[in-house]
Amino acid sequence: MTHNPIIVRTLTELRGQIWQWRGGGESIGLVPTMGALHDGHLSLIRLSHKYASKTVASIFVNPAQFAPGEDFEAYPRTEAADVAALASARCDLVYIPDTHSMYDEGHSTSIKITGVAQSLETDHRPTFFDGVALVVAKLLNRVAPDFTIFGEKDYQQLATIRRLVIDLDMPVKIIGAPIARDAHGLALSSRNRYFDEGALTLARKLNVIMFDCAAKMGAGMNVDAAAAQAKQDFLDAGFESVDYVAVASAHSLTPLSGGVLDRTSRLLVALHCRGVRLIDNCEI
Ligand code: PAJ
Repeated sequence: MTHNPIIVRTLTELRGQIWQWRGGGESIGLVPTMGALHDGHLSLIRLSHKYASKTVASIFVNPAQFAPGEDFEAYPRTEAADVAALASARCDLVYIPDTHSMYDEGHSTSIKITGVAQSLETDHRPTFFDGVALVVAKLLNRVAPDFTIFGEKDYQQLATIRRLVIDLDMPVKIIGAPIARDAHGLALSSRNRYFDEGALTLARKLNVIMFDCAAKMGAGMNVDAAAAQAKQDFLDAGFESVDYVAVASAHSLTPLSGGVLDRTSRLLVALHCRGVRLIDNCEI
């Protein structure tokens, strides 16, 4: 049975509905997204149901996190299909603000986030996490949820949001959701829809090489040597360039010192596949 979510586009309508739910004693989970939804996003909605009695999804392609030359204009916008998918996952409300309501002409505030947000992604997308932190802070202020769910697919983003809510004293609990993969192990991503069959076949080699590298590290191979080997394997497989193959502590995301694994080590990869930048990560 489908469960049509309430669709709201204005802050007034959003706050009215949240207020009504609060009055009825409901708890609220928020799943922020940029739309172009796939099963990975829907797994976050389903996880939210375990924590909160009402689940809100937001759909907003956030200009503040795209650098000039990135795919902001081309980013897939598939609202009708997204709403249908959210209905199938029993989402209760979809918040779809327009750009002007999020950032009016007078908008003058930015967030500069360091620590976990430094290195890895930031070496390649310097202002990305500042843009993510800004929009997530605004969405959390607007929805005021009890819980908010983020995917481990964007591992550094999850760590950054955990830091953001601590630093800004935001009364919300962050839930991390496991990575949803296709039958070949490729992490689901909105950008996978840019791929033709050939590119998809190549993209599916990412996880194979990454898991192989993690297994070698786990079995005691020197971490730097295993990472260098994985980088070469990616290039040999046909990926055009590799931004990083890195091992970091899962909580602080500080790079491993002296090549010694600890119990929380995480392998993180970013590379380019036929013009599309892909990221993935796994436990070691
Ligand atoms: P978006 O790429 O749409 O992702 C929305 C959420 O879905 C993120 O928390 C992301 O980690 C999660 N997600 C995406 N693919 C996943 C997968 N295969 N398995 C599990 N979770 C997955 O990330 C963003 O949007 C934006 O930066 C946002 C946080 C919405 C701020 O604009």
